[in-house]
Amino acid sequence: MKHDANAIRRDQGKLPMHASLPIEVMMQEASGELSVTQYTNGGPHGGPMIEALGLQKRYADTWAVKGVDLQVQPGEIFGFLGPNGAGKTTTIKMLVGLLRPSQGIARIDSYDIQRDPLAAKARIGYVPDQPYLPEKLTAREFLSFTAGLYQLDRKTARHRGEELLKVFDLQDRGDELIGGYSHGMRQKTALAGALLHNPKAFFLDEPTVGLDPRSASLIKVILREVAERGTAVFMSTHILEIAERMCDRVAIINGGQVIAIGTMNELRAGQGDVSLEDIFLKLTGGAEEAQLAAALD
Ligand SMILES: Nc1ncnc2c1ncn2[C@@H]1O[C@H](COP(=O)(O)OP(=O)(O)OP(=O)(O)O)[C@@H](O)[C@H]1O
Ligand SMILES: [Mg+2]
Repeated sequence: MKHDANAIRRDQGKLPMHASLPIEVMMQEASGELSVTQYTNGGPHGGPMIEALGLQKRYADTWAVKGVDLQVQPGEIFGFLGPNGAGKTTTIKMLVGLLRPSQGIARIDSYDIQRDPLAAKARIGYVPDQPYLPEKLTAREFLSFTAGLYQLDRKTARHRGEELLKVFDLQDRGDELIGGYSHGMRQKTALAGALLHNPKAFFLDEPTVGLDPRSASLIKVILREVAERGTAVFMSTHILEIAERMCDRVAIINGGQVIAIGTMNELRAGQGDVSLEDIFLKLTGGAEEAQLAAALD
């Protein structure tokens, strides 16, 4: 079936407008420790929305991340690329406050995630590479539960939940247990949950893994829409075509260090009309393997 981008755009224009919070912040919110509106209605900052300053992470003898510096502006889609084990997930986990850096600082909207975690996390939406979802809930129940933690009123919660189920093509399956969902359906349910509110810094770790082309395309449209509302989108991906087509800037990380960062034009500088794949393979030492593979063909 031909993909109807306009239909997606129409549905997508109705996405709910509130911020997505990590579960621990939602729990604090639900217990009255934190007012979401206190932190999410436009900060006083106006600088980069996401900032890494010399981030490092060490596990025993392994330096998973050796010093990452980067900034992502509001409204920007930033692609984070690198080979397996390069340090992408570790960097993202430090940026969203799930891992304490061995060195360095992560800031969200100028709030230091370690020193001011509630304010920083209140602005964050995060879809991990393997999202945790309650198997014994239906998607509708999950969205309702999530909305409850956000303290959305029941009517608004139901309305937004239905919109999101529709956007993600889950409306007809929304009363089935998540335990019986396919990988892609789970991924879309996690995205819907993360979009019940409008995060100012939206992190996605490999968002298109296992998605069919239509769902992957839908996510591209949704991320662009989210960015157009002023959210900084930080996305790790192995799919270079996606990064090339949809990211405003990309960083390539290898061995725990950022080895290139910029727009596609900046990365291409002086190299002619090369693809991101060419640049990636050259920088990450994969060019020889590519030549070898070509020779074996
Ligand atoms: N909990 C941990 N304990 C020890 N080492 C870890 C731990 N988590 C990650 N590492 C190591 O840190 C390095 C970076 O891992 P990370 O998961 O950040 O890579 P990645 O770029 O996300 O890779 P992939 O593309 O495969 O998802 C790897 O060498 C990994 O083995
Ligand atoms: Mg990873």
